[in-house]
Amino acid sequence: VGLCHLFLKERVRPGDRVVDATCGNGHDTLLLARLAGPTGKVWGFDIQEAALTATRKLLADEGCLDRVELCMAGHERLGEFATPPLNAVVFNLGYLPGGDKSRITRPETTLAALEASLGMLADKGLLLVVVYPGHPGGDNESDALQAWGAGLPPEQFNVWCSRQQNRLQTSPYLILVERGNR
Ligand SMILES: C[S@@+](CC[C@H](N)C(=O)[O-])C[C@H]1O[C@@H](n2cnc3c(N)ncnc32)[C@H](O)[C@@H]1O
Repeated sequence: VGLCHLFLKERVRPGDRVVDATCGNGHDTLLLARLAGPTGKVWGFDIQEAALTATRKLLADEGCLDRVELCMAGHERLGEFATPPLNAVVFNLGYLPGGDKSRITRPETTLAALEASLGMLADKGLLLVVVYPGHPGGDNESDALQAWGAGLPPEQFNVWCSRQQNRLQTSPYLILVERGNR
């Protein structure tokens, strides 16, 4: 979703430490690697070898693999791999485009990973979640995320939800969490 990249371009700076929690075909990982630059660090997670292979190839082709650590692990294990403070953590939920549509992200592990991310966010750090309510299972995950976002303490986090008003309510949308209370 374009809005997610817009926020990343605005806020991620050279030298930042960032996470792509769902590498898929690697498009978000590549943007993060470019923005964080050679002095930055990117951790990328996926549970499918095909996704990490595609991501590794894209990053190598674009000359950005040096600053990226790809982890064949569920993002709920974020804390075992990444080192805080993190300036941005990105989730692009659902299934791998062009891949197995049954291997979707699931509310239990997504929520566990989001909680782990919150604890590792830098001050003013961003958590961006692109949510897909349109596929079977995606609707439940979306409901769980709505409840989760609404329940975050306002004295610690700013939470926004951005849906496209002129599209179906099943269209992808963005949840954005910022550590801070301004
Ligand atoms: C929508 S795709 C990501 C698309 C990607 N951002 C891109 O630009 O191509 C979702 C990915 O999440 C992965 N996934 C599912 N459950 C996961 C988990 N627990 N931890 C990490 N990745 C997971 C899937 O294998 C899939 O590749």
